[in-house]
Amino acid sequence: MTLFRLDASIRTEGSASREIADVVEAEWLAAHPGDAIERRHIGVDVLPSDAWPNAVAGSYVPADARTPAQRDAVALAAGLVDELLAADAILLAVPLYNFGVSQHIKTWIDLVVTDPRASAGSTPLLAGKPVVLCTVRGGAYGAGTPREGWDHSTAYLRRILGDVWGADLTVIEREFTLVGVNPALDAFEDLAAEMHQGALAAAREAGKVLALGDAA
Ligand SMILES: Cc1cc2nc3c(=O)[nH]c(=O)nc-3n(C[C@H](O)[C@H](O)[C@H](O)COP(=O)(O)O)c2cc1C
Repeated sequence: MTLFRLDASIRTEGSASREIADVVEAEWLAAHPGDAIERRHIGVDVLPSDAWPNAVAGSYVPADARTPAQRDAVALAAGLVDELLAADAILLAVPLYNFGVSQHIKTWIDLVVTDPRASAGSTPLLAGKPVVLCTVRGGAYGAGTPREGWDHSTAYLRRILGDVWGADLTVIEREFTLVGVNPALDAFEDLAAEMHQGALAAAREAGKVLALGDAA
């Protein structure tokens, strides 16, 4: 069995999204000791930002007419899709940045979509595949909060992973990760701690279910 893990935080130390994904991964490994985990950290080992336009342009011309840059981009996209298809389970750790997804995760999604295996009309790329998305936000955007609706990342990721790619998707969310970092949020210490513990508990549960080959 293979788990594919994608991290999109722009840091490795102190990352809240990595912490949650680590818990999911540990549960998966406990059930599959020694099995493979394939990793890609797009927040640190970034995908080239010109790969997407080159992959799009390359998809409009026959393979033998592609420029070297187009060939590289098409091959990169194919490799990203290979990683997804080869996995029995998928784990994604994706923070909210500037009220949306980072350029890194958008480039990854855009590149995957250029591959013929991900195109509309085909069987959805991740049809029925268990996928856990761990997503974190520095602030809080729930119903009734001043910035309700300002998180333009989570719904988009659900749309792509669940609706477009057909994944059997579980989403674990943690808010207020900047409590304790940004003094303006000090009043939310207890709530943030509760959210933190809730996310870790959800991660343990999701990891156990993922290990069975099904999303929660
Ligand atoms: C450049 C930057 C932009 C951010 N933008 C937002 C934002 O728009 N809304 C928010 O709630 N948090 C925002 N954050 C906070 C992150 O979502 C938060 O620190 C999160 O924990 C980062 O993920 P990580 O802990 O896995 O690195 C931002 C952080 C950075 C570094």
